[in-house]
Amino acid sequence: MNCKLSLISCWPFAGVVGRLGFNCLTGIESMTDHQSTKTRERHFASDNYSGVCREAWAAMEEANRGHVSAYGEDQWTRRASDMLRDLFETDCEVFFVFNGTAANSLSLASMSQSYHSILCHDYAHVERDECGAPEFFSNGTKVLLIPGPNGKIRPDDVEEMVKRRTDIHYPKPKVVSVTQATEMGTCYTVEELEALGCRAKHLGLKMHMDGARFANAVASLDLKPKEITWQAGVDVLCFGGTKNGTPVGDAVVFFNHELAHEFDYRCKQSGQLASKMRYLSAPWVGMLQDNVWLKYARHANGMAALMEELLSPINEVRIMFPREANSVFVEMPRHLIDYMHGQGWKFYSFIGEGGCRLMCSWDTREEDVRAFVDDLKNGLRA
Ligand SMILES: Cc1ncc(COP(=O)(O)O)c(C=O)c1O
Repeated sequence: MNCKLSLISCWPFAGVVGRLGFNCLTGIESMTDHQSTKTRERHFASDNYSGVCREAWAAMEEANRGHVSAYGEDQWTRRASDMLRDLFETDCEVFFVFNGTAANSLSLASMSQSYHSILCHDYAHVERDECGAPEFFSNGTKVLLIPGPNGKIRPDDVEEMVKRRTDIHYPKPKVVSVTQATEMGTCYTVEELEALGCRAKHLGLKMHMDGARFANAVASLDLKPKEITWQAGVDVLCFGGTKNGTPVGDAVVFFNHELAHEFDYRCKQSGQLASKMRYLSAPWVGMLQDNVWLKYARHANGMAALMEELLSPINEVRIMFPREANSVFVEMPRHLIDYMHGQGWKFYSFIGEGGCRLMCSWDTREEDVRAFVDDLKNGLRA
């Protein structure tokens, strides 16, 4: 395979520029429409395949009037930040950056020094899918990996990692990072987070939450956002918007004010301070009004629940992890994966050989799920 081509077809860009369907993460064929003559309106590859929801779009449209101050000194950014403070019921500091990788890596950099380490799950996005950005932006911080079932890390394993080495030659553990909802589509319960938060504090660690799908986790757990963030010990949350209906722009929410010190400079230096900030923040106003964010997250979760329900009785398909948010992970035979790709469906198959992630979005329709499952059943008969 041509190396250049395999690189540009890499997840998450495979659907955008790639046609070869080669997955750089595993080296296996994945998610491609290259043999398919069929096109689909919606896919199950990622929730960032979806477009912009009408509420976010309407807010952007409204923001697109006249001249306003640049670099976040505008009324939309103020309003979105205030709405987030209301949502979390605390006086947090809020910054908007272009994407989740920037949110994670810049906030992690603000939580650590170059000689520190960041502890996270083996499959954490900050480790696997950010091209080393957390290490890069913190000038050398090392990411240390902790295994754990269902995409979650456990307090004892965190402690074991912290105490593994305490000498000066080892990168000093400083931050524990959790993903909520996890990379496996599960959700940490409030008790699990509290236990992690408590142990982190005891061990002198700060706690970071990658909330690319925080909305889906809140919808799934049916709790107040504060209960699974600052009340559980989370210092910084990266609150994802794009997967839930905004065009661009994730919010970095600092519950720990000290960690936000000069974060605006960090954003500016890394090219993450939008001059026309209103276009990043206005969609958040649209999403936060009337709990639109929660409505869409619940919908996406509901579509994944339907997918799970329809796939569960099929013998050749095995559900790999408890379905708790907006994705279903399944194992199915290689020929079936190929058949489905041939039918024009895009989805990733990167969890080991045969493991497929079926991700539902804010705009996934019941008929999309049913059409997918019908095709899958046809594939079994073919
Ligand atoms: C768990 C997780 N964190 C963060 C991100 C944000 O990544 P991006 O930089 O593509 O917005 C993603 C996107 O796929 C994700 O799945």
